[in-house]
Amino acid sequence: MSNFYVTTPIYYVNDLPHIGHIYTTVVADTVARYRRMAGDDVYFLTGTDEHGQNIERAAHRQGLEPLELADRVVARYHQLWQELGFSHDDFIRTTEPRHRRGVNLLIELIRKAGDLYVDRHEGWYCSSCEAFYTEKELFAGDSCPVHESPVEWRSEENVFFRLSRYQRPLLEWYEQHPESVRPESRANEVRSFVESGLRDLSVSRAGLSWGIPFPGSAKQTVYVWLDALTNYISALGFGGDSADDQNLYQKYWGGEDGTRLHLVGKDILRFHAVYWPAFLLSAGLPLPTTVWAHGWWLRDQRKISKSVGNIVRPDHLLTDFGADPLRFYLLRDMVFGQDAGFSDEGFVDRFNGDLANDLGNTVSRLVTLSRRAFSGGTPAERCEDNRLIAAAAEATGAYRRAMDELGFHRALEALWRLLAEANQYLVSREPWKLLKSEGASQRVSRVLWNAMEAVRIVAVGLLPVMPRTAPRVLAALGIARPPEDLAAMSWGGLPTGGELPQPEALFPRIDREIYLGAATQNSTGAAVGDIGEKDAEEGQQMITIDQFSQTDLKVGTVLSAEPIPGSDKLLKLTVDLGAESRTLVAGIARQYQPDELTGRQVVIVANLQPARLMGVESQGMVLAADVDGDPVLLVPGRPVPDGTPVR
Ligand code: MSP
Repeated sequence: MSNFYVTTPIYYVNDLPHIGHIYTTVVADTVARYRRMAGDDVYFLTGTDEHGQNIERAAHRQGLEPLELADRVVARYHQLWQELGFSHDDFIRTTEPRHRRGVNLLIELIRKAGDLYVDRHEGWYCSSCEAFYTEKELFAGDSCPVHESPVEWRSEENVFFRLSRYQRPLLEWYEQHPESVRPESRANEVRSFVESGLRDLSVSRAGLSWGIPFPGSAKQTVYVWLDALTNYISALGFGGDSADDQNLYQKYWGGEDGTRLHLVGKDILRFHAVYWPAFLLSAGLPLPTTVWAHGWWLRDQRKISKSVGNIVRPDHLLTDFGADPLRFYLLRDMVFGQDAGFSDEGFVDRFNGDLANDLGNTVSRLVTLSRRAFSGGTPAERCEDNRLIAAAAEATGAYRRAMDELGFHRALEALWRLLAEANQYLVSREPWKLLKSEGASQRVSRVLWNAMEAVRIVAVGLLPVMPRTAPRVLAALGIARPPEDLAAMSWGGLPTGGELPQPEALFPRIDREIYLGAATQNSTGAAVGDIGEKDAEEGQQMITIDQFSQTDLKVGTVLSAEPIPGSDKLLKLTVDLGAESRTLVAGIARQYQPDELTGRQVVIVANLQPARLMGVESQGMVLAADVDGDPVLLVPGRPVPDGTPVR
């Protein structure tokens, strides 16, 4: 048995979880469940990143203290993580005292190594990334290359970490441990970044109150990334003094053997594959065995993210289908490591094709036949010689190789090849005809048993991916307790003469037309401006009149309206507010022609933080009634002067 530590990034609490956050955690949970079934001693960590300017600002915008915002968002994370069936062993919050102890100890070790000094720091700063960029790295000359939002110039005195010292040791680490950064293409990027030279890194911020005070440097706060990365060891008790803390840390991080796997999105690879190992090298601590970066879920060819404004929330999919179909879709439709497009159409097609048709129908057909033939039970006789045995061995081997390499889509393809084989086998043997002509003969028994056994193996392989539904498939085949060991994938596990429950519809087909009609309105937050924060409040609490009055609503006249290239949903509006005019991006292109908008009065939110949508900065949001997903613009009852407030 070997120790296996797997982590997700810790998520910022300035937004509610969306499909991107869910994805990394689905991957981590699947890996954790698979490794447990493979016999490893697994520890699975996830959590939240709660410090920094971004979070402080988001909280203040909502009239909250940062910790209040964090508490609310974390409550949602806990609820959602449970709904999604995640089996994490711990959930760390960077506002916990145990985390602060870990950060303090790490900094102490780095200081002892002589790797900290104070200096002045200047540069372009993106507060969403909490990172400095050079002029060369900026997008369109003035914006963050990740968020495409404006950067700000910062100049301050900071504590610096001697990152430049670790150029050689890092290159040696990559060289000596080919598995340290995966996939290979990303490892090459990281290596060339380090080869091009490392500048020392500022690891404190001045004038930021929401964070961990930098030990030994008054008025400085620990840089959020140094703070956040430490979660991977503080959660294991690093910095704690109890025996339990030390044992846990020693078991999953401190020892030389075992696996320490960080799963991250490609956007944060540099922090994990360069800065984090450099901090650890400086402190004399073991390094992760692997940092594995995955790609992005895209919508309209752009990363799904709050700042782009194309968020996909999971709520409607979870309410309508439960967690497992979403887990399945995310793992099946993304080649791990590459980008993939998220779409409701894709989800529905996967659901109807793979789950309802290939898996669900096969199970119900087999169970119905077997119950009819064998008085409500599994076939009376098994069979040890047939073509499905070889197909199962091939599929199981391919599945395991793919899962070991985090090739989830290939692992699922392998299981579906076995399902297809089982179906072809049934079509060629026609047990339904045999049953009519020969009754519950030995032949019928063997054919049905074989096909059911193949489906059982598929269901065992699905346990890490669909932890609630795969046991239902097994229960439908008469196996009440799902196996805990991958050894159950070998041929022969289906009992003969067992009882078969009345079949239930495992994956009722989705009516594509009806569902997609409704889903367009549900899944995206980009219909009219950015409604990301709206969900945070929805259904949770009433607001006071004071809170409402913080929203600056105004009437304005549309001076011009034009389509935004590359988007069939968004229009760019210029709106006259009397004293000023504003550029706004509104998701109304499907309902309104640009011509019919010019000269019309609209109501806008004038004090919304600007957001960049499809490369255009929207300085506010146009209000519209949401009629089954169709925006209908709000207008004053009679023309009023531009800039008139709305209360
Ligand atoms: N707090 C930092 C991580 C600190 S880890 C020590 C952070 N948080 S985040 O909430 O912005 O995003 C965390 C992770 O969410 C990303 O790295 C990525 O794993 C995942 N995703 C967010 N959007 C995504 C997509 N559109 N697609 C896939 N995953 C992406 O960064």
